[in-house]
Amino acid sequence: MKLIIVSNRVTVPNRKSQSAGGLAVALNDVLAKRRGMWFGWSGRIGPEQQEATLSTHGDVTYALCDLSEDDYAEYYSGFANRALWPLLHYRLDLTEFARKDLNGYRRVNGYFADLLLPHIAPDDVIWIHDYHLIPLAEALRARGVSNRIGYFQHIPWPSVDVFLALPNHAEIAHALTACDLVGFQTRRDAANFGDYLVTEAHATTQDHVSYTVGSNTLQVGVYPVGIDRAGFARAAVRASRSRFVRDVEESFSGRLMLLGVDRLDYSKGLTQRLDAFQRLLETYPGYLDKVTFLQITPRSRADIPEYAAMQRALGETAGRINGLYGKASWTPIRYINRTHTRAELAGLYRLAKVGLVTPLRDGMNLVAKEFVAAQDPADPGVLVLSRFAGAATVLKGALLVNPYDLDGTAKAIDQALKMPLEERINRWTTMWAGVGETDISQWGGRFLGDLENPGAGQTIVL
Ligand code: G6P
Repeated sequence: MKLIIVSNRVTVPNRKSQSAGGLAVALNDVLAKRRGMWFGWSGRIGPEQQEATLSTHGDVTYALCDLSEDDYAEYYSGFANRALWPLLHYRLDLTEFARKDLNGYRRVNGYFADLLLPHIAPDDVIWIHDYHLIPLAEALRARGVSNRIGYFQHIPWPSVDVFLALPNHAEIAHALTACDLVGFQTRRDAANFGDYLVTEAHATTQDHVSYTVGSNTLQVGVYPVGIDRAGFARAAVRASRSRFVRDVEESFSGRLMLLGVDRLDYSKGLTQRLDAFQRLLETYPGYLDKVTFLQITPRSRADIPEYAAMQRALGETAGRINGLYGKASWTPIRYINRTHTRAELAGLYRLAKVGLVTPLRDGMNLVAKEFVAAQDPADPGVLVLSRFAGAATVLKGALLVNPYDLDGTAKAIDQALKMPLEERINRWTTMWAGVGETDISQWGGRFLGDLENPGAGQTIVL
C-alpha cells in the first residue's frame, strides 16, 4: 500500500525550490516518512503528456507533467488564482470569473486524473492538496477509482454568503463530496464548509463530522498544519552564527528590527502593514531613527494583473514612507523582493525584535510558527499576528491585531517594542507549546489516520 500525494506544486529534492509557499515544505516532511508517490505539475510549460515523467529519490517517486500554455493561463492563472484564490480569501472585489477559465480548470483536473490512473494500485491511499485540484477526486471516481481519497484545503474556506458569489459554487462544493475525508486548517473553515453542505447541498449530518450528500458520505475535520519545531529551532541557532546574519545585524547599527516575510500577495496585508508602520512613526516619534522595518517579499504569480499592480503599489508606498521619514543615515523601510533560503530566514527571525505577520486572511501562515521556533528562549522577540490568520487559533501568546485597524496595529507594535523581558518569555513559552501541539511530525499521521480508519476519532478540534 502506498501513499499518493497530489498537488499542483511539487518540490523535487535537489531541484531549486519552485515555491516559497508552506505547502511544499509540509508535504516533503510527510512523504519522507512513508513510501509513496508525489504527483503534480512539473512547473514547466509544454505540450500535454501521454504519461507522467517519473523520477525516484529515496522511497519516493515523483510523477510530473507539463502544462500547455492554455492550461497554465486558464487553470492556474485563471480559475485557480483569479477566481478561487481571491474568493476563498474573501476578496470578492478581486474575483474574476470566466467560463473559459473554468473549462480549463475542469480539463486540467481531468488530465491529472488520466495521468495518475495507471499508477493507482487497489490499496493505495490518495491525498489531494489545495484549491487547484478540488474536482480531482470526482474525476478519479468517474474513472472507476474506489480507493480512499482525502482532500486538504491549505487556504481558508469562506462563509456561505461569500462562497455563493462563485457562479458555479454548487459544482465546486459538490466535487469535494466525492472524497472520504475533507480537512481544513481551522474549525471556522470546516464549519463554513459544513454549513454550505447543509444549507445549499441538502446534506444531512448528526455530528458535523460525517455528512451525507445524495449517495456520498464524507468526513470533515480540522488539521492545522505545522512545522518541524525542533529542526527549525536548530537551523535558527546555526544561522545566527552565519556571515549573512552577522552582516545584516551590523547593517542595522544597533537599531531594533521589525521583520515581515511574505510572498507578494494581496492576501498578506502588506499595504496595510506599511501604512501601520507609518502610523507608528507618526504617533510615536521616539522611534524615528531607532527602528528599521525589513520586509522580505519574493515575487509571486507575477503574470496575473492583480499581482503586478500590487507589486507597483507596494514599491511606491515603501518609497513614499522612506521619502517622508528617512534621512541620509537611516532608511525606515527596507523592502526587498529577493528570495532567501530557509536557513537565512531562520537567522533573520532570530535577530528580529518583532515579527509582523498581518495577513487580511490566511489559511494558517507558517511564517508565524517559524518565527516562534527561531527565537532565543532567553531573549525572545514578539509576534504581532493578524486575528485573520489560521495561526491565531494556535499561537495564543501573540499580540493579536486587526490588520485593517492601522492605529491598533501601530499600538501593538509599540507594545511589542516596549515589552519587558518577563512578559516576552511568558508569551513565547505559550506560543512554543502551541507550535509543538501542531508539529508537522503529527499532521500527516493524524489526517491519514482519519482517512484510513474512519471513525477512529483522531480529528483535532481547536
Ligand atoms: C499557498 C498555496 C499553495 C501554493 C503557494 C505558492 O501557500 O496554499 O498551494 O503552492 O501558495 O503559490 P504558487 O502559485 O506559487 O504555487
